[in-house]
Amino acid sequence: MRIKPLLAATWVNIGLLFVTTAHAQNSNTIMVQVNKPVAEVQPAMWGVFFEDINLGADGGIYAELVKNRSFEFYQPLMGWKVTQSKFNEGSVLVMNRAEKNTANPRFIRITKDAAADTLSITNEGFRGMGIKKGLRYDFSVAYRQPAAGLTVLVELVSMAGKIIGGTTITPVVTANEVWSKAAASFTATDTSLKATLHIRFEGTGKIDLDMISLFPEDTWKKRPGGMRADMIQLLADMKPGFIRFPGGCVVEGHELSTRYQWKKTIGPVEDRQLSINRWNSEFAHRPTPDYYQTFGLGFFEYFQLAEDIGASPLPILNCGMACQFNTAEVIPIDQLDPYVQDALDLIEFANGDVSTQWGKVRAHMGHSATFNLKMMGVGNENWGPQYVERLKIFSKAIKARYPDFKLVNSSGTDPNGERFDYLNSELRKMNADIIDEHYYRRPEWFLANAARYDNYPRNASKIFAGEYAAQSDHTVSIENKNNTETAIAEAAFMTGLERNAAVVNMASYAPLFAHIDGWQWTPDLIWVNNLQSYGTPNYYVQKLFSTNKGTNVVPALMDGKSISGQDSIYVSAVIDKNTGDVIVKLVNACDNPVSKIIELSGAKKFSETATLTLLKSNAAGDVNSFVHPDAVSPVTSATPVKGNKIAAVLPANSFSVYRVGMK
Ligand code: AHR
Repeated sequence: MRIKPLLAATWVNIGLLFVTTAHAQNSNTIMVQVNKPVAEVQPAMWGVFFEDINLGADGGIYAELVKNRSFEFYQPLMGWKVTQSKFNEGSVLVMNRAEKNTANPRFIRITKDAAADTLSITNEGFRGMGIKKGLRYDFSVAYRQPAAGLTVLVELVSMAGKIIGGTTITPVVTANEVWSKAAASFTATDTSLKATLHIRFEGTGKIDLDMISLFPEDTWKKRPGGMRADMIQLLADMKPGFIRFPGGCVVEGHELSTRYQWKKTIGPVEDRQLSINRWNSEFAHRPTPDYYQTFGLGFFEYFQLAEDIGASPLPILNCGMACQFNTAEVIPIDQLDPYVQDALDLIEFANGDVSTQWGKVRAHMGHSATFNLKMMGVGNENWGPQYVERLKIFSKAIKARYPDFKLVNSSGTDPNGERFDYLNSELRKMNADIIDEHYYRRPEWFLANAARYDNYPRNASKIFAGEYAAQSDHTVSIENKNNTETAIAEAAFMTGLERNAAVVNMASYAPLFAHIDGWQWTPDLIWVNNLQSYGTPNYYVQKLFSTNKGTNVVPALMDGKSISGQDSIYVSAVIDKNTGDVIVKLVNACDNPVSKIIELSGAKKFSETATLTLLKSNAAGDVNSFVHPDAVSPVTSATPVKGNKIAAVLPANSFSVYRVGMK
């Protein structure tokens, strides 16, 4: 339901308002006092939440194109198809060396007895493989071949069945069962959204294969085995203050054995023990049986990414409890030590010098310098006395070793209700550094709660709005859309977060990524297919806040009050001491334009022109898409500042950011 403005001023009225006295306070004037900073905006205020959901990591930012590359899925040949001219018993065998290699037990053994027969295996990729014409692709495989005889032909096959690139590998003879690695690169001759990788065997002989891999050359920073650059660029463009990682419910796992364990995500990729993804079977209406975590994107890559894009890392660790929506499995208190040790060791992995045990591991992976980790979350959406009991043990141990380290504590799944009230009270009794609040709610909730933090205590625990997104339908509905209405509701709410930066120190939308053919949860900030990615209207809201963060909140008042829904508008203002600008953010959440005067005070002079960045669309239901990725996206223009006043016309369903220079 859209809201009508109570007092929409006409442009003629606005003109008249310019001649009113300098300090007039009325419902058509927004007074912004640039010399009265009320709070600092934390440098890490606007961040991103990353979770391997919706093919966020495998099949998403981790640029590996081969699915089930080491045959460790529950069904070892899932994602692979065997084709042969004549059925030969055992021509493709799944082998298991669990006793010798617990992290990567399986491989396949190819046996070909007759040169005239054909035998091939085909990998379908993650809903196909996105292949770009003219781009180099790097193929690699681990193998053992006891005697010469087989040639391996590698081919990319387009959706139309055309070979669009390939290479030939002649494996050498490997002695004493030692694994060798073959690598070859080739250039794709055509583009395909859903290509497959075809591996043919010619000649006769026997060969063992593992870690069959294909990466594009154009990864982020061209790192071999790296991340998908277009997706990372969208993140980098947001200039996020932090990256929350790895979630989300994957932190907790369906049961404790499938919880996220950072130590299993570092070191050589072939030694990273795969785990079933918690979202594999979470929703009966969105089953994803091929969803696993290979951890090719692990904790080292995560820290490196945060460093690359200037974001603070914010890891979230398992607190000794599996997802309480699923099994609610808990580790007994007397067995919690290894969990706590994982947290302490992660801090050492990030910050320890190279002489420490984990600092050495980091250096060995190529990063001698520390990652400057300053905070960590203990528990994702955990709740109840069992959580508090475990959290206290973590907090004591971490604070004893690292007194200045900040800890994020969960307030559960919802921003109200019994669970929330219990945790909110317990965490405050514990003087929690930062309380993580989550809200997946309808747009109306976001509008109605834009003043949620106006009365939160200032000198107590800080708030991390750690997961939020307006749901156009309802939570976990597959009908939820990333449309203008939800984006505008979030923007309105975010003015309240910004105004209350004294208590709200961080915020992140969730989830971040979704693959159009592999998602479980909607809405999501960024949508991708195998070749393209686009930001939703919600993405642009996040980006506008983050790139117009400023350094200090200043009052923006109408009738002497902060603006949180009067005339359907929501306003916050900051100054940026680094650029010398004042930035006013205004949201109009109704279906009609609203006109206001922005009156600036407290500086000697304001620039004669303001930069206006405007996000709007004709209809609340408008969305972006692969065909029209910028349908709802910000447009920047110059607008006059008359002395100290701006005549602001806020279009229906819009978010306006005014930036004015000050002297
Ligand atoms: O963002 C999707 C899920 O929502 C997260 O994994 C979980 O923390 C929340 O319930």
